[in-house]
Amino acid sequence: METLHRSVLIEETLAGLQIRPGGIYLDATVGLGGHAEAILRIACTQVVALDQDAVAIGLAAQRLQPFEDRVRFEQTNFADFEPGDQQFDGIVADLGVSSMQLDSPERGFSWRYEAALDMRMDTTSEGPTAADLINFSSAEELANIFWQFGEERFSRRIARRIVERRPLYTTTALAQVVASTIHSRQPIHPATRVFQALRIAVNRELAVLETFLARSPDWVRGGGHLAVISFHSLEDRPVKHRWREDPRLEVLTRKPITSSEAEIKSNPRARSAKLRIARRRLSEESSL
Ligand SMILES: C[S@@+](CC[C@H](N)C(=O)[O-])C[C@H]1O[C@@H](n2cnc3c(N)ncnc32)[C@H](O)[C@@H]1O
Repeated sequence: METLHRSVLIEETLAGLQIRPGGIYLDATVGLGGHAEAILRIACTQVVALDQDAVAIGLAAQRLQPFEDRVRFEQTNFADFEPGDQQFDGIVADLGVSSMQLDSPERGFSWRYEAALDMRMDTTSEGPTAADLINFSSAEELANIFWQFGEERFSRRIARRIVERRPLYTTTALAQVVASTIHSRQPIHPATRVFQALRIAVNRELAVLETFLARSPDWVRGGGHLAVISFHSLEDRPVKHRWREDPRLEVLTRKPITSSEAEIKSNPRARSAKLRIARRRLSEESSL
């Protein structure tokens, strides 16, 4: 599994959550199971593992098979999770897509491989897919997506060119249109920001993150911890602001925790990872 996705900030997340033997934890984005496995290696812990991607759940179940009596899986968006009466000792959410998803050509997340423009993490959802957004949005709507979710400077120019050239059904066709519109000197592929923006729009990533940030503090017992790992400022900003404003929480990381040089060297994806930790206040603290 490590070849499909390298987990980031594992030790820092375990320390931040103050994992204790016998504790019950929620991994809201189990992915390939790296963080869940690290938690389950601690004696008698239990994990409820969520992911909206059925393929990820299947792979995590294989990896976590040695702990099968202490882990339960649920395929759901973390915004829709219903814990019932369960209160967790801690919650971890490692946001965004996994390398497995990015590197699966048929999922359509990457300009590197020719595939249908899909980009849904939950392939059972009704959509829209990236192709639906590209082919049926107005130029203004597309420009807003590229600007808001990709911080793409040439959002309007790219959106106009897409509208002239559509229908576009494949990753490579879209990447070519973007590359022919802007002549970037930056080292990243010119379509990188457009692809990130579409992925965020297709999966409504910022809206579901807001719902998760509003609901999840209630899923943790007083004194329990929340850990969120984000990979770009559009994700990190709401975590920082919502937690700071939340009377249920005490923020323990004034500045986000980042990866060591050694981790970045062995896993370049770790370079942009930011970990924030909060603690659920005890009820008597909240009423002070
Ligand atoms: C960065 S990966 C997690 C990797 C995992 N921590 C590991 O170490 O293997 C993110 C995972 O979260 C899932 N995901 C993203 N947003 C989600 C959401 N709103 N609800 C549920 N799962 C989500 C993705 O499908 C992906 O599998």
